[in-house]
Amino acid sequence: MLIAGNWKMFKGPEEAGVFCRALRDADLGEVDVVVCPPYVSLGEAVGALAGTEIGVAAQNVHWAAEGAFTGEISAPMLRELGVYVAIVGHSERRQLFGETDETVVRRALAAIEHGLHVIACVGETEAEREAGETGSVLRRQVGAIAAGLNEAGVAETDELVIAYEPVWAIGTGKTATPEMAQEAHALVKSILNVPVLYGGSVKPENAYELASQPDVDGALVGGASLDLESFATICREASHS
Ligand code: 13P
Repeated sequence: MLIAGNWKMFKGPEEAGVFCRALRDADLGEVDVVVCPPYVSLGEAVGALAGTEIGVAAQNVHWAAEGAFTGEISAPMLRELGVYVAIVGHSERRQLFGETDETVVRRALAAIEHGLHVIACVGETEAEREAGETGSVLRRQVGAIAAGLNEAGVAETDELVIAYEPVWAIGTGKTATPEMAQEAHALVKSILNVPVLYGGSVKPENAYELASQPDVDGALVGGASLDLESFATICREASHS
């Protein structure tokens, strides 16, 4: 069970340091824990969590090792900082910053090739769910990642986790029912047999029920990961599931 806190564009270095030092002493149950600060706070988080089991992830990573790509960060740069995990394909990147299945696959493959673990996000919009297209969207998004892994000869990777994040549940307070999450996770796993995290308004109150589903292997938590007590409670709830 993996609980990852995606901070999005919150917590600069100072706040990140304070949070991570407190996280060291928090009761997080028996789950694996990762925090995903903004780029500028990664170094502070790595330093504050050194010597603990808590991982630090970047929120994105470019496919090139270096080059003329203004505003981007590469996998070797993250490794140099002590960061060994990266999120790719978050729906905010897909919706607001032009990320496509193709760029998501390129980012994921390059990260894996450079020795990073990857959390690749997929999920349908509200309109797609209402149109009955959830299955076809997931097959397209996960299928693109599976095809990319196959072509690169790394089909059996241990470095990849998928996060199923229905777009309509992100930051809205609307959560997928445990049954909806289970159905989507089972579909994802039928295409690519990797652990699948659920994301979308995960809170202390719903973490146990979601994490109890057989194909839910953890959570990618946004807003509720910014508060220490709420994040620690989610970790403990998932731990009991
Ligand atoms: P919320 O938990 O704020 O809905 O965000 C989910 C998310 O996007 C995590 O990546």
